[in-house]
Amino acid sequence: MDQRPQFLMNEELWEEDLLARYPKSGKKSKEEYRNYQDPQRDTVREFYRLNHLNQTYDFVLERERVFKKFNKKQMTFWEAVEFLNTLVDDSDPDIDLNQTQHLLQTAEAIKADGHPDWFILTGFIHDLGKVLCLFGEPQWAVVGDTFPVGCKFSDKIVYGEFFQDNPDSTDPRYNSEYGVYTPNSGLDNVHMSWGHDEYLYQVFKDYLPEPSLYMIRYHSFYAQHRENAYDHLMSKQDHKMFKWVQMFNPYDLYSKSPIPPDVKALRPYYEDLASKYLPDVIDF
Ligand SMILES: [Fe+2]
Ligand SMILES: [Fe+2]
Repeated sequence: MDQRPQFLMNEELWEEDLLARYPKSGKKSKEEYRNYQDPQRDTVREFYRLNHLNQTYDFVLERERVFKKFNKKQMTFWEAVEFLNTLVDDSDPDIDLNQTQHLLQTAEAIKADGHPDWFILTGFIHDLGKVLCLFGEPQWAVVGDTFPVGCKFSDKIVYGEFFQDNPDSTDPRYNSEYGVYTPNSGLDNVHMSWGHDEYLYQVFKDYLPEPSLYMIRYHSFYAQHRENAYDHLMSKQDHKMFKWVQMFNPYDLYSKSPIPPDVKALRPYYEDLASKYLPDVIDF
């Protein structure tokens, strides 16, 4: 089965769902969000049902082993950007922005606010990990909110009810507050559900400043950066660095505009920026 159309449907719905959950005005209450009924909501529910069912501690460790070999594909920075764009079905180009346009809008909004160049670059690359989809990963293992595995799933995670079917929920090794971890041992010791965030962090971990790596690694960890559900696992350094994750989030969620940025005109600037921090050829 071709995964692309389905991926796109869910990927966009996931982002719409995030906006419904965390509207810019901050006005919509969680209860309103929960009660919001429409057919698209069922697609999002089904997506999270699969995600919460399948993201087990063993699954995550196995995916980490597979992808930390970095033997899937070698690409230059811009090849990776273009490769990601092959995900896009442009059947409705008036409404849908492709991946490059989302990345550019995020980065340009960061640039407009005068942030350092590595922050701008972070905006431009933060979703490159979605190439996982092109390596055959199911969408529930690429996008969606992320959360720790190996310990009790927080009820602050969206659609938390679906964790009851995750085998880890009834496994005494994994279903206590700390599970396999120790108090405040730091997120670097915690395995996160598998997806584009953790994967891209692994790809770039030797090249970017620490705040940038935190933004990449935890940008979908809404249960923490919006809900503070995992303070008990966080170190002091994590708390310090999460200020950056929180600073990044509005650029990711609210920088979308229907006017597509001029990719051709902006490309040299971003290629320059990438060459300052990243290797010429990146091992994915
Ligand atoms: Fe993302
Ligand atoms: Fe994004």
